[in-house]
Amino acid sequence: MDENLAIIVLAAGQGTRMKSATPKILHPLAGAPIIAHVLATARALDARYVVAVVRHERDLVAGAIQAELPEAVIVDQDEVAGTGRAVEQAIAALPDDFTGDVLVLNGDVPLLNASTLAEMLERHRADGLAASVLSARYDDPSGYGRIVRSAEGAFDRIVEQKDATDDELAIDEVNAGVYAFGAAALRDQLANLTTDNAQGEKYLTDIIALLRGAGSEVKARPVSESWLVAGVNDRAQLSETAARLNALIVRGWQLNGVTVEDPATTWIDLAVRIEPDVTVRPGTQLKGATAIASGAIVGPDTTLVDCEVGERAEVKRTDATLAVIGAGATVGPFAYLRPGTVLDADGKIGTFVETKNARIGAGSKVPHLSYIGDTEIGEGSNVGAGSITANYDGVAKHRTTIGSHVRTGSHGVFVAPVTIGDGAYTGAGTVVRKDVPAGALGVNVAPQRNIDGWVQQHRAGTAAAQAAEAAQAAHEAGEADGDGREAE
Ligand code: UD1
Ligand code: CA
Repeated sequence: MDENLAIIVLAAGQGTRMKSATPKILHPLAGAPIIAHVLATARALDARYVVAVVRHERDLVAGAIQAELPEAVIVDQDEVAGTGRAVEQAIAALPDDFTGDVLVLNGDVPLLNASTLAEMLERHRADGLAASVLSARYDDPSGYGRIVRSAEGAFDRIVEQKDATDDELAIDEVNAGVYAFGAAALRDQLANLTTDNAQGEKYLTDIIALLRGAGSEVKARPVSESWLVAGVNDRAQLSETAARLNALIVRGWQLNGVTVEDPATTWIDLAVRIEPDVTVRPGTQLKGATAIASGAIVGPDTTLVDCEVGERAEVKRTDATLAVIGAGATVGPFAYLRPGTVLDADGKIGTFVETKNARIGAGSKVPHLSYIGDTEIGEGSNVGAGSITANYDGVAKHRTTIGSHVRTGSHGVFVAPVTIGDGAYTGAGTVVRKDVPAGALGVNVAPQRNIDGWVQQHRAGTAAAQAAEAAQAAHEAGEADGDGREAE
């Protein structure tokens, strides 16, 4: 642990430019709220104290912070606005005798990594500075505070966009909103901040000019790559930041042995785990705590949320949530796996099949056009095309149990609760309302009756009637030719 380090995370702002009912820093990025990325970086620095300042949607934001970093101290910012006030109140939560360094992070700068911060801190300490600021150069610096330097290039002060002159607005070096301060120097100058500016807020950025006035040394250093300190202020920046983070995540998996055919259309959340020799096809989104085992092929056009995919499984054009797909199993194309689906090894959930709360045993197959819900299927069974488990009687849900090595006919309906025993068969079109014992054939389809000539009588003049007449004429001509076939 770094005994001489305290981290303050600023999270009290509303994020007006997002135009959202959700606080800005709770918008998700790679499956975690923006603030969680900042807190994960703070955790990696192993500071003695982490203080997070909240105000807007206080309970929601504090809850998200505590979920990610339980040891963080939550401080409520009062009615005085501004990043300076936020830091002033955060400092008050630290022990009075804390004399180490204070790292201030904006809660809306999620891509900044621990190694960049560790390097910043090291140089800050080595140079014995009162304040260090990370800066970045942007082609379009609008919205950011500008780094004002003297003719000799020495860091002079920070001016906010709304307070800047035209000359200052032309400066392309911006304040990234990431600072290291000596605790004592910071405490001294926070007391001198005013709200005498365009926004009527206490700006943390004014500390720089105050420190310089007191004769302290400050430096602003550009980051190696400006995207590291990109802030999320509106939804355009949110999507740019998400794309950047996703590119980093995808590349990380590629270098770890995962084939990602099209990084631009593949989205992988931070918490996803993928073993080497997995292939991810284009248009695939891997979300939440999804885990994919070696040799599996996922995609194209597949979304998996909190799913487990076993070794060598193939999942094609599928939407699945909270499903477990066994080793060697195949899913899709066009399958919809809802929560509680468990497909055991070498099983199959095929084309246009929806499943929910269903265990499908090893080697069992539901290949075509079916709904299987609240169901248990044993091993080696085959469910016929177009099968429906009728699990809902309008009031309650009921279970269907299908044994091992069962063969159910096409277009079967299983009116739950119902059980099909091991090795049983059902006929095509059977509406199974009673249990079928092991080894039995269940059938209940009424015998078929053909009413000859019905179409010519009741649909005279239609194309169907004409086709029927032509067929009949051809048939009679064939009989006259004596081709030996008999009419029935
Ligand atoms: C701030 C900087 C600006 C810098 C930019 C970098 C100030 C005055 N300006 O501007 O120089 O270029 O960050 O991203 O600091 N917050 C609070 N309490 C408040 C206000 C804000 O905790 O009263 C938090 C916000 O939740 C956010 C962070 O501080 O996490 C920055 O606030 P924001 O309003 O986004 O500041 P910017 O205008 O971007
Ligand atoms: Ca900001």
